[in-house]
Amino acid sequence: MNRESYNKIAEIWAEHRHSSFVSQIIVDFAEKLSLNAKVLDIGCGTGMPVAGYLASKGLLVTGIDFAEKMIEIAQSQQIPQTQFLVSDFFDFETKETFDGILAWDSFFHFPKEKQAMIYPKVARLLNSGGYLLFTHGDDDGEHTNPMMGEEFYYSAILKEDIIQLLEANGCEVIDMIKDYREKDTHRGLVVLAQKK
Ligand SMILES: C[S@@+](CC[C@H](N)C(=O)[O-])C[C@H]1O[C@@H](n2cnc3c(N)ncnc32)[C@H](O)[C@@H]1O
Repeated sequence: MNRESYNKIAEIWAEHRHSSFVSQIIVDFAEKLSLNAKVLDIGCGTGMPVAGYLASKGLLVTGIDFAEKMIEIAQSQQIPQTQFLVSDFFDFETKETFDGILAWDSFFHFPKEKQAMIYPKVARLLNSGGYLLFTHGDDDGEHTNPMMGEEFYYSAILKEDIIQLLEANGCEVIDMIKDYREKDTHRGLVVLAQKK
């Protein structure tokens, strides 16, 4: 459902998202990484403002997203230091590992039964000492909601389970903010973790 819905709203999404601000949390995440550090942006959407911001800070960004139209728009901007690939996170294969992984507003779209599979995969893709930053839903469960005239699926697991999954996969939670509000935005949970 989500892939089809994002393909349908890709242009309106870009129009809206490309003029939105970069969260201070993403600014702080970028500051933790050195010049030319490699970053994986999971569910990168149309590439702006997030991947574009990371690249402007001298990071090498690989953005993946399963919605072809979102990636088409991301690629069309020819942002230096970025590559954008069409891929479902769960099918994504690479020999590369990353110094930072970001999933801004994407994990909450993953199927509930696959939520626990995120963490071993992300931990494998992350270098030791590397950072993982992601947003997450605040309520255990799943639901659908309309956005921009289309229907979207959302899911989340308990924050205690996220902590346990991160630790079981060699990652330490550095910060976990519930009900994060910034300007006119609200996110149920924002998590920063580091691979040991
Ligand atoms: C709310 S948008 C966020 C986009 C971008 N991170 C941003 O901040 O503008 C969620 C994105 O996640 C992508 N997505 C959802 N499930 C995915 C999956 N299983 N694999 C890859 N991308 C996915 C959607 O296509 C969509 O572009």
